[in-house]
Amino acid sequence: MAKPHPITAKLSKWFEKNLRPLPWRNSSNPYHIWLSEVILQQTRVDQGTAYYLRFIELFPTVRDLAKAHEDVVLHAWQGLGYYSRARNLHAAAKTIVDKHQGEFPNEYATIRDLKGIGDYTASAISSIAFGLPHAAVDGNVNRVIARLFSIEDPVDSPTGKKQIAALAEELLDIKNPGNHNQAMMELGALICTPRKPNCSSCPVQVHCSGFTSKNQEHFPVKQGKTKVRNRFFSYLIFIDKNQETLVRKREGKDIWQGLHEFPLIESKNAKEQNELHNSLEARYKFKYSESYTHLLSHQRLHIVFLTCWIEELPVDDWNNAIRIKRDDLYQYALPRAITRYLSSIISL
Ligand code: ADE
Repeated sequence: MAKPHPITAKLSKWFEKNLRPLPWRNSSNPYHIWLSEVILQQTRVDQGTAYYLRFIELFPTVRDLAKAHEDVVLHAWQGLGYYSRARNLHAAAKTIVDKHQGEFPNEYATIRDLKGIGDYTASAISSIAFGLPHAAVDGNVNRVIARLFSIEDPVDSPTGKKQIAALAEELLDIKNPGNHNQAMMELGALICTPRKPNCSSCPVQVHCSGFTSKNQEHFPVKQGKTKVRNRFFSYLIFIDKNQETLVRKREGKDIWQGLHEFPLIESKNAKEQNELHNSLEARYKFKYSESYTHLLSHQRLHIVFLTCWIEELPVDDWNNAIRIKRDDLYQYALPRAITRYLSSIISL
């Protein structure tokens, strides 16, 4: 067997002393590990921990998650964003119950086959819960490796990914892959941070090519950023004399699938959104909010909320709209863009 890389042993010692005592670290329950990993994709640990604890309280086992209604799962996820992750989690829980008798699969390929589980998550679960030798490469690990080895190819290019994957496997501690993977992530989160990495406290500084060439912040090199798409949303908040309002569930393949929202009209650009507002003036008397900008990973939403106090709700003008008490709004899973607005105003 090849000798472990010198980085590997130093990292392991450092991790033993410096690991954050996160709740899922006391567990080798694959369901818990899976939840924590899915929640922590794109979410900071401090925010993610609260969601993790709430999730295992609401859905203590895979079976509990599988039999929950999707609306309840989405509601528990509210605020985390990337709602497809919650829908995939739910679908995968059903698969585990239907195809694997409720037992979390313990082989990489079977885990990787579950909905929403990619290479990273499959490697993290396989190694942390089952001790299988798979290197997990997330954003933190990409950065750590790109700096350690001065990888000039962009980490989001096929050649860059290949080099990083090979180095991650080379560094992997096959005797303790779960701790090793978490140590790499922890180093990225605590020391080898995106900006101003704390190289003076780094346990593997002497092995770091980026540090040696005083070029650590040049890495990771990234290809051109993905383009952001601008969208223009006008939400119509109708409120009638009984304090009722209209909401609809979002369907179809777009953001926020399965969440509820007020009746929405989307415009192609700011000019059309303005024209829309002018044309609506003829039918309704609205109070306009300012235009809010809400950033998603690949979209920038420009949102105006138009509130109209009205005798009768125009329920027939909106397909699938339902009439609800405005006090009951929070019983529905709502996009953060909407809850943010609601909590910023006093009148709703
Ligand atoms: N980010 C995602 N998964 C993690 C883990 N297991 N430990 C630390 N940071 C993480």
